[in-house]
Amino acid sequence: MSLLSVRETWTVTTSPLVSDSAELRKARGAFFTPAPVARYITDWGIHHAADRVLEPSCGEAAFLLSAVDRLQRLGASPADMRLDGVELHESSAATARTLLADVDVTADISTGDFFEVTPTGAYDAVIGNPPYVRYQDFTGESRARSREAALRAGVSLS
Ligand SMILES: C[S@@+](CC[C@H](N)C(=O)[O-])C[C@H]1O[C@@H](n2cnc3c(N)ncnc32)[C@H](O)[C@@H]1O
Repeated sequence: MSLLSVRETWTVTTSPLVSDSAELRKARGAFFTPAPVARYITDWGIHHAADRVLEPSCGEAAFLLSAVDRLQRLGASPADMRLDGVELHESSAATARTLLADVDVTADISTGDFFEVTPTGAYDAVIGNPPYVRYQDFTGESRARSREAALRAGVSLS
């Protein structure tokens, strides 16, 4: 069974022991990407076996698993892959680590707010599906940090 066909058979991978709900998932924009869509994007964005990849809001690793498949097809071995992810939700980040370990990839998945990460410019591809949240609910520190990040990239958001 290929990696992608394994991914396509998933149903719910979040641990029932960790509290979560439809409302909480909606608030943090947690809707995971179907494997065929992730595959389309990773095939488009990753070009070389040595490419280093970042997923800034990786959820349960839909894109990173797709990146593993793409990098393998480009000739990389799992041990050589350099994949990093950031994810706000601890349980999702843990699931992402487990699923990547299951395919022998040690990815660096940080649990936290992507807007607190200092960009290093060290990546060949930054791929993913970010959280889409209601703008009126996007307030406080988190919103301020996102605006600062946009400003650092030369974009002023109203
Ligand atoms: C639309 S989901 C997509 C998840 C994954 N990228 C995928 O395509 O399956 C967005 C993810 O962003 C996470 N998230 C929300 N705000 C975040 C933040 N500030 N930093 C990092 N992750 C965040 C959510 O917990 C959720 O898992």
